[in-house]
Amino acid sequence: MDIETILTKQEESLWGVSNYYQRPISLARGKGVYVWDTEGNKYLDMFGGMLTLSTGHCHPKVTAAITEQVEKLIFAPSLYPHENAVAYAEKLSEILPPSLSKMYFSLSGTDAVENAVKLAKQHTGAQEVIAIRGAYHGLSALGMSLTAHPTFRLGGTHITGIKHAPQPNCYRCALRLTYPSCEVACATDIEEIIQKTTSGRIAAIIAEPIAGVSGLITPPLEYFKTAVDIVREHGGLFIADEVQTMFGRTGKYWAGHEHWGVTPDIMAVGKSIASGMPLSATITTPEIAASLGGSIISTFQSHPVSVAAADATLDVLKEEAPPSHVEKIGHQIREGFELLKDEFPLVGDVRGMGCMQGIEFVKDRDTKEPANEAVSALFEATRERGLLVGSGGTGNAFRFTPPLTVTESEIEEALSILHDSIAEVQATVS
Ligand SMILES: Cc1ncc(COP(=O)(O)O)c(C=O)c1O
Repeated sequence: MDIETILTKQEESLWGVSNYYQRPISLARGKGVYVWDTEGNKYLDMFGGMLTLSTGHCHPKVTAAITEQVEKLIFAPSLYPHENAVAYAEKLSEILPPSLSKMYFSLSGTDAVENAVKLAKQHTGAQEVIAIRGAYHGLSALGMSLTAHPTFRLGGTHITGIKHAPQPNCYRCALRLTYPSCEVACATDIEEIIQKTTSGRIAAIIAEPIAGVSGLITPPLEYFKTAVDIVREHGGLFIADEVQTMFGRTGKYWAGHEHWGVTPDIMAVGKSIASGMPLSATITTPEIAASLGGSIISTFQSHPVSVAAADATLDVLKEEAPPSHVEKIGHQIREGFELLKDEFPLVGDVRGMGCMQGIEFVKDRDTKEPANEAVSALFEATRERGLLVGSGGTGNAFRFTPPLTVTESEIEEALSILHDSIAEVQATVS
């Protein structure tokens, strides 16, 4: 089918879909960091399939593990225990803090968040939850209620008892303060939120180590210790939503929270876990898991094929793209981004870590007025040159989130395309 036919049929038969680019791209095949569309055009995929393709497209070891499992047994409900889930849980726990040894495998990040909050409420007996403004936590009623981002509120929000704290966004501080003289007021404000807007009994705080959808908002180093201490003093747990940040994506460590030195009570992970196969996990301590006092069943829980892909993904990451590799690549990306910032006034801020970095574009560095039109033009310019990136923030940021197996020469190629694309757009706005 050609792209025009696909788009016509999509309009007729699907709902709730949005596509990137004025003339959307339909992807036909992929290999490593490259993808080809149905018209044969080749692209360097620096969005990494919305951060799911940790090992790139169709890594042969992951593909082989999936194929082997599909040929043996596609599906078995969790009512029949399966070796894949227990073997993988053991392997996954080796890269996690020792306290986090109990897993529940589901299919999406939304599921993982849902189960994390459920467990926190069950464990603490409290119902109220602190979330962060700008966060994205999924599309269920609970996920949307936790989410505080204008693009993702369609369909309403329904769950009560959720209070949103200011985002630790040092580039656009909601409290109009400057780091470090602010003394992380965005975190200390949580005390007042609990005291003045809740019953005083909190089930949890849920937060992303780096807020991905928001445009890679990276909290200052003191943030999590301060915020989590306050919540724990009020009896609450720390849920780290690591759907984007886990599996070494932030470099140096396997999990994102490790950069801030605060161990969560519950983690939600997904995306990169299985190289693009649907899988997620809610991970917690034996004590918190036991407080459920029973079972929760989902049809596709611990899906054998997805778990086989996750197992092979972790092996590949350990061999080819451990956190030390991502850290090195991250430094290369940051150096490239800093050079772009030096050269182009459109670049307002660069941030993030490892293979999870972003650029926020502004019309004017003093007013920080978002440059959404320039970003739309940049999307088209990068696409023309064969580079895929993601959007972030409220449409004024780029998300640069390549597969973790990306090489230095591939990053060099992407940075060069980015440079030429920004130069083209900058020339039209200056
Ligand atoms: C931090 C975070 N949490 C949860 C989710 C929801 O994951 P999913 O889209 O797999 O349901 C996402 C998705 O982007 C996410 O970025």
